Parts: sequence; structure tokens; C-alpha cells
Amino acid sequence: MFLKQLSVSNFKNYESQKIEFDAQIISLTGKNGMGKTNLLDAIYYLSFTRSAINASDQQNIRYGEPFFFTKGVISRDGKAHKLQCTYEVSSGKTFLVDNKPLEKLSLHIGEFPVVMLSPNDTDLVREWSELRRKFFDGLLCQIDRDYLNCLIRYNHYLKQRNALLKAGSRDRLPDTHLLDQYDQELLNNGKLLWSKRKEFLKSFSPVFLERYQELAGKETVFIRYITDYDKKDPETGLKESRQKDILMQRTTFGVHRDDFEFLLGKNALKKSGSQGQQKSFVIALRLAQFEIVKMNKGFKPILLLDDIFDKLDDARISHLTSMISNRYFGQIFITDARPERTSTLVGHLDEKVQIFNVENGVVVPQPA
Ligand SMILES: Nc1ncnc2c1ncn2[C@@H]1O[C@H](COP(=O)(O)OP(=O)(O)O)[C@@H](O)[C@H]1O
Ligand SMILES: [Mg+2]
Repeated sequence: MFLKQLSVSNFKNYESQKIEFDAQIISLTGKNGMGKTNLLDAIYYLSFTRSAINASDQQNIRYGEPFFFTKGVISRDGKAHKLQCTYEVSSGKTFLVDNKPLEKLSLHIGEFPVVMLSPNDTDLVREWSELRRKFFDGLLCQIDRDYLNCLIRYNHYLKQRNALLKAGSRDRLPDTHLLDQYDQELLNNGKLLWSKRKEFLKSFSPVFLERYQELAGKETVFIRYITDYDKKDPETGLKESRQKDILMQRTTFGVHRDDFEFLLGKNALKKSGSQGQQKSFVIALRLAQFEIVKMNKGFKPILLLDDIFDKLDDARISHLTSMISNRYFGQIFITDARPERTSTLVGHLDEKVQIFNVENGVVVPQPA
């Protein structure tokens, strides 16, 4: 997969910009706050139909403007495709693929896969289970359409059930028939998500372990799937939690509470891992994501490396650069606040490199 052209309009700090790419390696340099990450996010949008950073589309509109769009020409399987995502305050989001509007945005997920490594990835180790669940959900959705549909249905019925629970009160208990129906939907879809997550982890783990050991040496790392469904039979668990759910006004049993525990040997990475081990862990997660998506699609996703050289030591940087020079990846976008560092890194590669300087939302090509 190859991004040949990107145009953005009113996207964050960009007013209007059109850039042509003809290299495998694209380096974006510029001081902090100039718009490097924003440009990667515009590319991310074309793949995921949403921002990697902002939860709401509206936040990506340049302050005070009524709309934004991000537009790309991507070649895949020898054919060029036009992708365009527009968000207007007045009418919401539309996504065009080759000028045809998508009926459902979710159908686009996985079609033009992108993998992004960002400094925020270390949150995966530290923060709540939600981020880890999102990582695995995002990956599974890119490669398994049934999973995606099932997840959408599960979340839909979970929302309905929670709304019903919230509407109840001490003297007006929620409609049990309706609760029964929602429970059935949650169980049907939940069981499929559960088995697919379990199954997926089996194929993901060896790929992940290999990536980790390449980066950090022979330590054993492990990802453990933790789910209510393994603690109790799903039917029984949901039934038994109903009284509590009515009291708490939310659903307290199910796969929406799943977690993936990161282990270093037998210990929790969060507690006993050094910063270096935690970084290796999250990079290995992303590289394994790249590998799994590549295997599934039969072509290489676009790789977005956001400011990672700042956060890594020399050994990990040299490992990544050797992966780059071995042509393990396809097209790569690399941001860096220190232009001289990227030039040294990519300087000795055979690959063609394009360098752009980003200054206050304006992208200027530099001599390579
Ligand atoms: N909706 C928006 N409208 C205008 N500017 C924005 C918007 N969202 C973010 N910005 C600006 O984008 C800049 C950050 O860009 P970013 O891509 O993160 O920089 P960096 O080059 O450090 O990666 C900040 O100056 C911020 O104010
Ligand atoms: Mg940045």
C-alpha cells in the first residue's frame, strides 16, 4: 500500500495543503507544535475514519471553521483509490471511496490498513483495561469483519441495557422482559467475542514474543486474557449479577470488562517492568500488529512512526532502522523534531527518501 497524495483542508492547524509522495520513506521534520502529528492523523483518518488522538470529529476542525476534509490517493494491488473524509459541523461525517459515499463507516475498517506507533502507546501499559481492549479490538476489527459486526452489536445492546437500568428506580424496576432480551443478545454476541479474542491471542502471542525478543533479548513476555466468562459460565454470571446491576444501574458482568494482562516472566509489566522494558513491550505490540495485518491482507500496511526516536535508546533505534533497511516495512512516515537525526538514520539507506519541513501547518519539501 502506498500513499501517493494527501490533501487536507481546515484540518487542525492546516488551512489547505496538498502533498505528493513518491518515496517509501517520508520524513517530516519541524519544531514541536508545528503540525507533524496532525499530518499523520490526517493519514490515520483515511484508514480508520476517525482521529488517532481526538475522540470527537469536531475537535479536528481548524478553530472557527465550519468543516474539514482529509483526502488521499492510495495505491493498493496496483490500483489507485481516492479516499476522502469530510466532517461538517452542520451535516456530520461523510466518507467517499472512489467518489462513492460509504453507507457504513465500519465497512471501511481494515480496507486500507495503517499502523501507528506513537509516544502515547506507553499508556497501554499504565492505564486502564479499556485501552488494552481497544488495542486488541482495533486489531481484530481490521482483520475480521464478523468480529467487527459482533462488537458493534454487543456495544449496541450494552448501551440499551445500561440505559434501561439507568431509567429504573427504587419503586420502578426495569422491565424484566426487555432485560431478558438484552441479556440474550449480550450473551450471543459476547460469547463470539470471547472465543475470537481467545483464539486470536494464540496466534498473536508467538509473533509478539518474537518481536519483543528481537528488541530486548531473551526475556519471556506474556499476554494473559482476563475475562468474566472464564470465571463463571456466561449465562449464570449475567443472571446472578442482575440484582447488582439494577442497584448499580449498569452492567457489571461481561466481555466489555475484559482485560489483557501484560506479564514479564511471572510479574506484571506495569509494576516490575523498567521503562525500557515497557517501551519494548509496546513497540513489539505494534510491530506484531503490523505483522498480523500484513499476513492477513497479503500486503504491507502504511507505517506511521510518530516521534519515536525521541523516546528510544540507541539499541532499539538501530533495531528499527535495520528493519527499515531490510525492507521489512512498506511505506513509512517518520516525524522527528530533530532533522539531523532522521537524516543520519535514513542517509545510509538505499531507499528513496523524501524530506518535508513542517512549519505552522505548512509543509515544505526539502532537498533530500
Ligand atoms: N482544531 C484545531 N485547530 C487549529 N489548530 C489546532 C487544532 N487542533 C490542534 N491544533 C494545533 O496543532 C498544533 C499541534 O500540532 P502537532 O501536529 O501535534 O505538532 P507536532 O509537530 O509537535 O507533532 C498545536 O499548535 C495546536 O494548537
Ligand atoms: Mg507530535
